[in-house]
Amino acid sequence: MTSKTAKLSIPQRDNTTMDIDLPVYEGSEGPDVVDVAKLTAQGHFTFDPGFTSTASCESKITYIDGEKGILLHRGYPIEQLAEQSDYLETCYLLLNGELPNADQKREFVDMVTNHTMVHEQIRTFFNGFRRDAHPMAIMCGVVGALSAFYHDSTDISDPYHREVAAFRLIAKMPTIAAMSYKFSIGQPFMYPRNDLDYSANFLHMMFGNPCEPSVISPTIARAMDRIFLLHADHEQNASTSTVRLAGSSQANPFACIAAGIAALWGPSHGGANEAVVKMLDEIGDVSRIDEFVAKAKDKNDPFRLMGFGHRVYKNFDPRAKVMKQAADEVLAELGIQDENLEIAKRLEEIALNDPYFIEKKLYPNVDFYSGIILKALGIPTSMFTVIFAVGRTVGWVAHWNEMIGGSYRIGRPRQLYTGYSARDFVSVEDR
Ligand code: ACO
Repeated sequence: MTSKTAKLSIPQRDNTTMDIDLPVYEGSEGPDVVDVAKLTAQGHFTFDPGFTSTASCESKITYIDGEKGILLHRGYPIEQLAEQSDYLETCYLLLNGELPNADQKREFVDMVTNHTMVHEQIRTFFNGFRRDAHPMAIMCGVVGALSAFYHDSTDISDPYHREVAAFRLIAKMPTIAAMSYKFSIGQPFMYPRNDLDYSANFLHMMFGNPCEPSVISPTIARAMDRIFLLHADHEQNASTSTVRLAGSSQANPFACIAAGIAALWGPSHGGANEAVVKMLDEIGDVSRIDEFVAKAKDKNDPFRLMGFGHRVYKNFDPRAKVMKQAADEVLAELGIQDENLEIAKRLEEIALNDPYFIEKKLYPNVDFYSGIILKALGIPTSMFTVIFAVGRTVGWVAHWNEMIGGSYRIGRPRQLYTGYSARDFVSVEDR
């Protein structure tokens, strides 16, 4: 993997210089990576707040070229997967490294389908939450609690336990997500229906009721499936890195995924889809776009255009392209006129031609359009980030499994300490 060496010269406090040779690794794609792990033995650390220049692990799952706007899962472009695959097939790909053949796919779908129900006592767990609890708050709690219900898949050293935990998480997330919503509107929980596919079953649990059979529109189910697929993985983002870090302490998988859900919740990450729709509602009319663009550019105003910008993409987020096209298709098929879509398109046009956004390479990200589709599908705004979490579960699990199945050490970053040097304690009378 390496034949090159980087030379680092570090000035010392006694005015000498320390020269250190560092190995340089070549990945199958992407820039070369300098291995700084041995620096600590020489008495130095690197400083990289926000990990802008740090590869935290080696991975074979997903590749992003942020400059070119490329996203590959196990080598397959996201556009091809969104067009030709489906969510569960993409889950198989992410977890196993290859697309399944017909038998493997059937077996995988059956396994997921057989795990859709949650332990009956989990239903009573919901009663501990306030009626108006945000569904993401419920998700953090209930997914973490799964480890109390499924002890038989928490031995992380056993590959079979890890596989069962993966199936359970992928299968039960839609059930728990729909239960969170039903709880918040005071409707009975709906049991999963295993005659429906993954996304249609989710819609049944969200919108069905025990008094009448669910009627699921294939258009809506297909759109839902594509949304799950487009969120399935995105390499070492904040929530996936959180799952890896939690997992590096050998915590059980359910606790690790609950940690990922917590990290996803913030508006800088998965919470952005909810924030986009709130922002579009607030803009309210195309005539007010300039005012909001000016606010976003004002250094003294904390406002940001939600759904714009990305740590890695400095070109169009390829998921946003697919999502935008899907938004057009879904709205046309359902015959919905959405004022927000008009505002979003105009906002995108203005921002993409504005020197501020051009210079800073701020393009629409996946969340910019996903909120509009979710709204058209009848999904309440508070559930947007939950749906992101459902789709992303497979990515979290795939990365966690890759780490646990290989060699890893507990994640333990260091710091640049700028506090007091040692000083003597002063008794309270003398302070
Ligand atoms: N609107 C206006 N200005 C922005 C925006 C925005 N949406 N995003 C970044 N900027 C500006 C910053 O003010 C900063 O300007 P400066 O250099 O003059 O100080 C510059 O662009 C760089 O921004 P950073 O915050 O340093 O970039 P970072 O990579 O740390 O953050 C992030 C990326 C969090 C996504 C940011 O672009 C943002 O807050 N976007 C809005 C929220 C959002 O859409 N999040 C979803 C991300 S995608 C996902 O998680 C699925």
